[in-house]
Amino acid sequence: MNLKKNAGYKAAEYVKDGDVLGLGTGSTTHYFIEAVGKRIQEEGIKVKGIPTSFQSLLLAKEWNIPITSLEENDIDLAVDGADEVDRNFNLIKGGGAAHTKEKIVDYAAEKFYVIVDESKYVESIGAFPVPIEVIPESSRMVIQTLEDMGATPEIRMAERKDGPIITDNGNFIIDAKFEKIESPEHLEIDLNTIPGVVENGIFSNMVDKVIIGTADGIKEL
Ligand code: A5P
Repeated sequence: MNLKKNAGYKAAEYVKDGDVLGLGTGSTTHYFIEAVGKRIQEEGIKVKGIPTSFQSLLLAKEWNIPITSLEENDIDLAVDGADEVDRNFNLIKGGGAAHTKEKIVDYAAEKFYVIVDESKYVESIGAFPVPIEVIPESSRMVIQTLEDMGATPEIRMAERKDGPIITDNGNFIIDAKFEKIESPEHLEIDLNTIPGVVENGIFSNMVDKVIIGTADGIKEL
């Protein structure tokens, strides 16, 4: 059973004719975009998409989803994956280094739905390191500050390119593992006050619905 696919396809059922959609990034959102594309093909619904990455832009184009931007439209519904979701709907995102644009789009949306498989649903977030997008020149200073905050930070290295990965915005990613995240809300704000930090992957208190693909079917919270 493909749990990510089930979650993505379920979310596509909530899309209404005329909606402007925030299109998240990652392997779960991949299925949401595919399912929306099929609804356009089969039912003739008219929607527009605002992508959160080059990945979701290319996929939307493949499925003939017309592209728009936040300059031109407000978003009715954003659908996105996550690396972790906790019981209070706090998220860690950025496993695919796309969290900056994801946060802009997801936070701007009238409704924000998260789609995950059951392995991502946790008691409290923090087993996954927090991805932090930084201006390259600030890396050493940001790492020092993160260490002072008690975290273990590491610049994310690319796999089929020498050196660090470069985000869609031309920056580095620092993955910061915290011993324990007491308050996601405060950490989200604190991290963004470090000079050089563009955006961090904690999303607190913004989610309207979590759709979880489980071995027993879809669970909606
Ligand atoms: C992209 O940077 C991330 O925020 C993804 O949305 C998140 O990593 C979930 O990805 P998967 O659906 O591929 O697990």
